[in-house]
Amino acid sequence: MIKEFHAARWSEPLIMEMGGPGRRGFVPPEPIADPGRDLVPDGLRRSIAPDLPEVSEPEVLRHYLHLSQQVMGMVGISLFGTCTMKYNPRVSQQLARQDFLAQIHPHQDDATVQGLLEIVHRFDLMLREMSGMDRFIFQPGGGAAAAHTHAMVTRSYFAARGELGTRREIVTSAQAHPCNPATAAAAGFEVITVPLGDDGLPSLDALRSVVSERTAALMINNPDDMGLYNPQIKQWVDAVHEVGGLCFYDHANFNGVMGRIRARELGFDACMFMLHKTFGVAKGGGGPAVGAYGCSAELEPHLPGPLVDLDDGVYRRRENPGGVGRVREYLGNLTEVVKAYAWLVAMGSDGVREAADISVLANNYMETRLMAIPGVSKSYPGMTKHRMEMTRYSLGDYTAETGLTAADVQNRMTDFGVDAFWMSHEPWIIPEPFTPEAGEAWSVEELDYWIDVLAHVLDEGRRDPELVRTAPHHQVVAKIDGSSLDDPNRWATTWAAYRRKNNLGSDGA
Ligand SMILES: Cc1ncc(COP(=O)(O)O)c(C=O)c1O
Repeated sequence: MIKEFHAARWSEPLIMEMGGPGRRGFVPPEPIADPGRDLVPDGLRRSIAPDLPEVSEPEVLRHYLHLSQQVMGMVGISLFGTCTMKYNPRVSQQLARQDFLAQIHPHQDDATVQGLLEIVHRFDLMLREMSGMDRFIFQPGGGAAAAHTHAMVTRSYFAARGELGTRREIVTSAQAHPCNPATAAAAGFEVITVPLGDDGLPSLDALRSVVSERTAALMINNPDDMGLYNPQIKQWVDAVHEVGGLCFYDHANFNGVMGRIRARELGFDACMFMLHKTFGVAKGGGGPAVGAYGCSAELEPHLPGPLVDLDDGVYRRRENPGGVGRVREYLGNLTEVVKAYAWLVAMGSDGVREAADISVLANNYMETRLMAIPGVSKSYPGMTKHRMEMTRYSLGDYTAETGLTAADVQNRMTDFGVDAFWMSHEPWIIPEPFTPEAGEAWSVEELDYWIDVLAHVLDEGRRDPELVRTAPHHQVVAKIDGSSLDDPNRWATTWAAYRRKNNLGSDGA
């Protein structure tokens, strides 16, 4: 049964536009003493009070309630794809909110945070077991940040060997996640991109033709953005090692091979896992995230400090003086490490392997059903081997038939309580792509529902193309006018900028 969904729609003002002079949420009995006031030099003190909204407590509560009602939140069925998003168990969220963790300060003495350091150390050991690496850190704030950490570790490693002047290039493939070339470039390397062959894979010969004594590293995800595993990945690693380069495995898509392959056994020198995706922790746009970065003992001296060691039964933080310095504050976002640790302990090694197998089964089940829907085709149909946990599909034929795009279909699907699907990173290799990841579904019923909604929308589009083209109809915002996105004069990321750009005067601050 296809369920209708309708978001609440409020014409809600910005919080900055609400309230009135003198309105308060809380009135302290005495003026709050400010012991730090004398420490602020005169020249840095405000002469005018900041232009903050003056609002009562009910107004604030109602405002944020309205905003929360306008999003689908976690009620939507989400098979986002290429990121291996998992359900975030409530129990680990509650655990991480307990006082014993939430009240800890990063500057506390090691002796007072032995339990937390033990979790960090144990989780490091577990990820070592899953990857074969010799040390993990949790400082990077996401997958891209972990890739950037690798680019910086690569710099530090070759600088220490006096080779940084020669090793200027980082190699990746046309279907690697964009964070690999982007972070390599941000760290000052030249990026060499290996193109795809007719079979959808970058060839070993193409790799061999670009690696040399100038190669600093290979940075690549496997499976690639389309869900294809490189069957020659070990030979790729060997080819890069033969010229003295390092190899980094972006393991963002770990669902299908958890407990089945280990990056170090494939020869990689470093890898990353995303706790906010694979390990049951919440994903948030650049937000509450952890990119766990692991490397070989040879690279360990270049890691950002502090590292956590176990010496004589005592856990200690130690700086890593030869390393690249901090990539984020302290040990990183440790509440997320606790949640991921809880998830992994609960799953156990058998559970992790079972989840990997189920994700492959779920994808192949989904593929069989999707391929029976007219208008849906899959990338590289000539590739007869079973795909693992993810397949990229195309609505190219459907677009040719109806004029409706994958984005139109995606928008209409949200009207039935299904989150927008992931299409593809740029460049699109196949037309009108979409890449759902079946292993993210909670149950086979949920998977069937997602597939039924897609079939229903494609059908609707044939009967009434305008209905699908103008979707979504049940969301707060129907269509976003993207024309302002490339015009900095029209968008504003702060209230002050909004006022300035809309000629509302300055906020007086
Ligand atoms: C293969 C791959 N690598 C890296 C990333 C970047 O991760 P994050 O969004 O946490 O920076 C993603 C997901 O966005 C990904 O799918």
